[in-house]
Amino acid sequence: MRSPKDFFAPLAVGAPEPVRQIPALPSRMIHFFDPSNEKMAAKAPEIAKKVDVLLGNLEDAVKADRKEAARTGLVEIAKANDFGSTQLWTRVNSLDSPWVLDDLITLVTEIGDKLDVIMVPKVEGAQDIHYVDRLLAQLEARAGLERPLLVHAILETASGVANVEEIAGASPRMQGISLGPADLAASRRMKTTRVGGGHPGYLVRTDPVGEDLTAGRTTYQQDLWHYTVARMVDACAMHGILPYYGPFGDIRDVVGCEDQFRNAFLLGCVGAWSLHPAQIDIAKRVFSPSPEDVAWARRVIAEMGDGTGAVMIDGKMQDDASVKQCRVVAELADALAA
Ligand code: GLV
Ligand code: MG
Repeated sequence: MRSPKDFFAPLAVGAPEPVRQIPALPSRMIHFFDPSNEKMAAKAPEIAKKVDVLLGNLEDAVKADRKEAARTGLVEIAKANDFGSTQLWTRVNSLDSPWVLDDLITLVTEIGDKLDVIMVPKVEGAQDIHYVDRLLAQLEARAGLERPLLVHAILETASGVANVEEIAGASPRMQGISLGPADLAASRRMKTTRVGGGHPGYLVRTDPVGEDLTAGRTTYQQDLWHYTVARMVDACAMHGILPYYGPFGDIRDVVGCEDQFRNAFLLGCVGAWSLHPAQIDIAKRVFSPSPEDVAWARRVIAEMGDGTGAVMIDGKMQDDASVKQCRVVAELADALAA
């Protein structure tokens, strides 16, 4: 049985004093399943053994006439299984939907002791988190729960992106934020028709060579999500919570998926959503630092002694700032090995 202390570890990233506490359990992949789908629900206990987080999805991708079945299905699955160290999350319906109030009341009352995190979609500003926070406090008190449920926001409206800093800091319950590229694209009126990933039309072109405007020009595809992911990472780091890449919808494109996940990892994200079993191993591989990077990080930490000053290692200058980066990598490796 997990204890509350498993959920909290001091913020590690170079801050002299922890800004606040963050969940310590790994969450490299948040694996989505539809509890109203009997086939998926039957597989959930097996899938749970392979993932860091199992998420029962009640929102988009669940048909309107299956919302109640999804809610009840999740309650049944949670009651019937002990997922051990795998976290159980849910994504409830959006705050302007007719279903969310029943989602929260039912889930907190029935399985509040089994759930770890409630993912809230389409968060527009701090007011949405305040609303969920107060409601959860009432429902937890009524259910006699001792461990507070944590809240995860999806960044998927233009207004959410504009308010991301206040969202990240809106409540001590805030566990993290995920990029929601599909809804965000619609909210921004982007001209894409995909769920995450890049677009072959989003390019930069090198300058022409000489007078001929067609000569020697090469194009490079750009990352549609760079700005949003970077903004989200900064907001999360500032408030000591965790950033995630969201969904990558083209399940067959394992290469594109791995690239998007890796960019997010390098920019500071700790995980991504997996929508299909094929994406579980991709996320596990990408969001775990490589043995080479960990070995290098440990070498720099060892050679830097008290962490101040500068040393040359294999011709590369290392100092206080590089040792801090190395600690991030080494601490992540330690946390994943624990
Ligand atoms: C996820 O919910 C998304 O809209 O991308
Ligand atoms: Mg969405």
